Amino acid sequence: MVETLLIDHVGHRGDGVALVDGEPVYVPYALGGETVEVAEVHGHPDRRRLLSVESPSLERIAPFCPHFGVCGGCAIQHWQTERYRAWKHALVAETLGHAKLDCEVAPLLDAHGKGRRRITLHARIGTHEVLKVGYAAASTHDIIPIDRCPILDPGLDGALDAAWALAEPLVATGKPLDIQITATGNGLDVDIRGSGPLQPKMIAALSRIAEQHRLARLTRHGELVLMRAQPAMTMGKATVTLPPGSFLQATVAGEETLAALVKEYCGRAKHIADLFCGVGPFALRLAERARVAAFDADAPAVAALDKAAHAPSLKPVKAETRDLFRRPLVPQELRDYDAVVFDPPRQGAQAQAQKLAASQVPVVVAVSCNAATFARDARILVDGGYRLETVTPVDQFRHTPHVELVARLTK
Ligand SMILES: C[S@@+](CC[C@H](N)C(=O)[O-])C[C@H]1O[C@@H](n2cnc3c(N)ncnc32)[C@H](O)[C@@H]1O
Repeated sequence: MVETLLIDHVGHRGDGVALVDGEPVYVPYALGGETVEVAEVHGHPDRRRLLSVESPSLERIAPFCPHFGVCGGCAIQHWQTERYRAWKHALVAETLGHAKLDCEVAPLLDAHGKGRRRITLHARIGTHEVLKVGYAAASTHDIIPIDRCPILDPGLDGALDAAWALAEPLVATGKPLDIQITATGNGLDVDIRGSGPLQPKMIAALSRIAEQHRLARLTRHGELVLMRAQPAMTMGKATVTLPPGSFLQATVAGEETLAALVKEYCGRAKHIADLFCGVGPFALRLAERARVAAFDADAPAVAALDKAAHAPSLKPVKAETRDLFRRPLVPQELRDYDAVVFDPPRQGAQAQAQKLAASQVPVVVAVSCNAATFARDARILVDGGYRLETVTPVDQFRHTPHVELVARLTK
């Protein structure tokens, strides 16, 4: 059924929101004030598919990517930059408001830089045995074949061609593949997931493709297939050799912006704990002027940080593998530090926040990729006597509803 709807505003996932009998109905790629023609989406009574924009908003602009609206990647390329930035800032400010966290929200810092340095592509055999390599369309398992993606860092040049070439022999197994590609200082680092164990013939075929595409390293589920150069990244004054499939901030500018804020908010602290440290983008920069103890559950990441921390100009870094959900640092351990940084995954760090709330650490710096779980954790800290001084939103996932933030709390 085709309907005409008036869009009220853009919601927190970037969809246009129409109010039908007072209930929200979500229309991706529509803007506030627009009258749109939409169709039903099977199985999603509160969603509609945009068919046409009858009266476009004055804030609407032409998207720059031919795959926009189809590939399931970017949610917003069709909105004037200033309006988009104000919306993203409001996503953070409103989430804090709902949690009754009263504090200044600094202007949004743009951290797209040269673009995304990591992508995960999906490869499947589609109808008529045709190979598809691309992104997953929104709300479906369909793969939209991708031949270009203008939001990628130039360090990923050649990544799409390499993914298509690697998928070609592998999809004969009939298994859906995920191909994660990272632009590193020494070239492309590729990890393939989903293929199952590989026969020697397949390893030889993949190695040839890795050579042809001049990949730095090719792994299957973290197991080495071929290495032409150790994938490494410079972080401050240190160089980290990356374990396969490592977590990295989405853009170089994102990592640098978050790390600069972390450093600034730690002030003059001399002994700092970096919780959920990953391979150490914050710890290694903080160690330029303070002793650091770094913790993460990912043992290969901690080992990589430990090795990188031996750079001559750095202060001592102690790196420890620890599950901080099950075994958060307790107040007695926290007594050692004059600042604590925490940067958990999307689900936040509730258990650690409860222990921090009961501690006397004078400065806590929270980095988050999820304003809602940050607000929950900050509420715990504030209820424990901390003051939320400032929150800075950082936009490294431009064109999406994702927003990072860095906050400073003091006691
Ligand atoms: C958002 S990443 C941040 C990593 C690092 N700070 C960075 O900027 O690259 C979250 C980190 O939390 C770690 N992590 C996830 N669950 C964990 C847990 N239960 N205990 C400790 N670390 C965990 C992941 O290994 C990952 O390194």
